[in-house]
Amino acid sequence: MSIVVLDKVSKTYRLSRLGSKSIREEMARMMKNLLPSSKGQAGSDEFYALKEVDLAIERGETVGFIGPNGSGKSTLLKLLARIIYPNHGKIMVGGSVASLIEVGAGFHPELTGRENIFLYGSIMGMKKAEVVKKFDRIVAFSEMEKFIDTPVKRYSSGMYVRLGFAVAAHINPAVLLVDEVLAVGDANFQSKCQQRIEELRRGGMTIAFVSHDMPAVERLCDRVAFISKGQLRAIGKPQDVISLYYNEVLFAKKSSTHLAQNNTGLAIESKTSLYGQEAEILSVKFYNGDGQETDTIAMGENLTVRLHYRTYTPIDDPVFEMLFYSPDDRLYSHLTTAINGEAINSLPDEGMVEFDCREFGLSPGIYKIDGIFSKRGSVAPYDLKPRQYILKVLPGKSVRGMFYMPQQWRLLPPNETINVQSADTNFV
Ligand SMILES: Nc1ncnc2c1ncn2[C@@H]1O[C@H](COP(=O)(O)OP(=O)(O)OP(=O)(O)O)[C@@H](O)[C@H]1O
Ligand SMILES: [Mg+2]
Repeated sequence: MSIVVLDKVSKTYRLSRLGSKSIREEMARMMKNLLPSSKGQAGSDEFYALKEVDLAIERGETVGFIGPNGSGKSTLLKLLARIIYPNHGKIMVGGSVASLIEVGAGFHPELTGRENIFLYGSIMGMKKAEVVKKFDRIVAFSEMEKFIDTPVKRYSSGMYVRLGFAVAAHINPAVLLVDEVLAVGDANFQSKCQQRIEELRRGGMTIAFVSHDMPAVERLCDRVAFISKGQLRAIGKPQDVISLYYNEVLFAKKSSTHLAQNNTGLAIESKTSLYGQEAEILSVKFYNGDGQETDTIAMGENLTVRLHYRTYTPIDDPVFEMLFYSPDDRLYSHLTTAINGEAINSLPDEGMVEFDCREFGLSPGIYKIDGIFSKRGSVAPYDLKPRQYILKVLPGKSVRGMFYMPQQWRLLPPNETINVQSADTNFV
């Protein structure tokens, strides 16, 4: 059953008029605004932050919202939180909403952290006794014990977000809205928040989550919505929608004319709008322990993978990668030449990269594999072959659990003791 429904929702804003406009211009604008404009159309100095968005979120679902800066993600969450209202369309939310959308939003600056927790609780319709019961847990989660009696106007942005998330994530709303604002927290806190979101999700809470952190979106969300220029461009399986986003946004940027060096050192203009225009992956092949090409390997067997590539422009410091996904699209393993940090120099125009994997550890099943050819540190790869290759893993060295680890065991002689003093340890 849907707990959130958006029916043709539009939100328009006026373009900034901070510039020095004459009184005549201002009068003309005001006159124009008095005239009836056709329904659903933004006036000339208005633009759509969101345009005719239809969306339904089911109870218990975690939906991720992704899209470029300024595409309308926060606007959508603010509409759900009733911080702002739509110009057109209807919004239905079937229950209480807790939100963490802007740093410090919902907090009263003059009040202390403690007072704000009680204030927020009462706004959320909680009885004082309920807040008292949860108070210690909220403070412990935020790790703000020392500053809980400080007015929040003295908090840093990270401290605001710690307390804000701790409150929102412990007061049991029907719908929890979390914006990118979490990124203000340090790495430790971010990972703690993601764990908490995962816990709440397992507990059946409905969550809308805006983020630019694609692995987190992929991990945490049941569905992902891609917002582009105020419109709902796509909604569906996280992996599919994230791939679409990468394709449309990163390659749209890449497609703007850019300069590349050719062999003569001359700057030439090249247009790259698709994967594989500067370099491509031609094939990925698997070989078993006997050196035979195969698509099936036993768990714990040696595996060699050969990735055949071709380049069309000089490429320095390339990185080759392979991502192994289970049939339900969970990322199981990542092989990358970047792991040892050494740059690959003078890459031939065409060639093979070989990955050698002793005692392949993934458990029996069918894996879909991405091949990626990129430049170190660059977000957009030269070539990406998503889920293009398949490897079947059969039972082999039989172990229980999620994966196999290479291991060596030996029986120690009865009188052998562990020597704790290693050669380079000096005791004073
Ligand atoms: N109060 C406002 N007044 C005028 N324009 C606004 C206001 N709030 C947002 N906008 C505009 O609406 C558009 C959508 O903004 P929004 O904050 O929803 O983007 P976003 O997708 O959350 O981006 P980001 O990834 O940068 O957080 C932007 O063009 C923004 O400038
Ligand atoms: Mg935003």
